[in-house]
Amino acid sequence: MPLTKRIAVLAGDGVGQEIVPQAVSVLEAVAKRCGHTFTCVYGPVGGEAIDKTGMPLPPETLTLAKGSDAVLLGAVGGPKWEGLNYEQRPERALLGLREQLGLFGNLRPAKLYPELADASTLKREVIEGIDLLVVRELTGGIYFGKPKGIERTEAGLRGINTEVYTEEEITRIAHVAFTAARKRRRLVTSIDKANVLESSELWRQVVTEVHRQYPDVELRHMYVDNCAMQLIRNPRQFDVLLTTNLFGDILSDEAAMLTGSIGMLPSASVGATVGMYEPIHGSAPDIAGKNVANPIGMIASVAMMLRYSFDLEQEAESIERAIQAVLAQGYRTQDIASPGTTVVGTTEMGARILDHLQAGDR
Ligand code: IPM
Ligand code: MG
Repeated sequence: MPLTKRIAVLAGDGVGQEIVPQAVSVLEAVAKRCGHTFTCVYGPVGGEAIDKTGMPLPPETLTLAKGSDAVLLGAVGGPKWEGLNYEQRPERALLGLREQLGLFGNLRPAKLYPELADASTLKREVIEGIDLLVVRELTGGIYFGKPKGIERTEAGLRGINTEVYTEEEITRIAHVAFTAARKRRRLVTSIDKANVLESSELWRQVVTEVHRQYPDVELRHMYVDNCAMQLIRNPRQFDVLLTTNLFGDILSDEAAMLTGSIGMLPSASVGATVGMYEPIHGSAPDIAGKNVANPIGMIASVAMMLRYSFDLEQEAESIERAIQAVLAQGYRTQDIASPGTTVVGTTEMGARILDHLQAGDR
């Protein structure tokens, strides 16, 4: 059944401006081939929005996002805005969107495309066959906890943030992880620091309690320091990694590198009605504007949008197959290049993926 959807497209900063157009072309190609109508409505976000309006998340952009069926986001941030105070920085836009859209669950799948086994900094025998999903809590923990701030005391300045989780916050993200595991290998490894932190002790208790409703899924607990080590020692032991906002931020970057490059990983933020889809990498100011950024994480985020927001599994898979096909032909952006492959830029990688999608027609 053809669908009609409205998508808020927020390209943001740095490489966001380069990879988003590639993703939009892919989306348009899918729409055309399958008869869907996807209307993209653009809005400024992050540093781009600060320059235009003085605010990282202007009310118009928030209204646009809230009134859409899904949000596609590039990246935010850059050295230009680093001196601003926290409330005015580009990153606040991302946190604001997550909070305002109620996106408490972040899904970050790390799967190795076999063609990229040699692009990883880790040995082939360690990473071959990895297929894991980081389920990161996204609207709680130390990112949002209060009190926070920098205060002046008699002994000098004092910076503070608070790691806090309620039973309700842990319960709902645990359900996301167990439900996801049911569609996978039925193993959830919950990551915490329960040997030191009370908030983690509660995390462990609540996850264990929720698990009683999922007897068909295995639950393991692991401390975050051990997990950081196990990810590079034996990543195949993981299926779903369930974790807090901060630990998930860190571990998902590490998981990404197992797959060859952080440029490869898409993400879906879910929880309420409007989902948000973005690559897990940032704005990469060092390579921005040079047509060298890897658009695959961004394009794969479109696939996640089609899958999770619109239930268009076949369309999602067609994008993933196109990515795989282009890699199989030996095309690589510089971040995933290895001897014997052909290095292409952002636009050419996008165009090749598009070609494959369109060739699916014939
Ligand atoms: C991510 C990013 C963000 C985060 C930043 C840009 C606020 O690192 O999505 O992983 O820390 O969540
Ligand atoms: Mg991060």
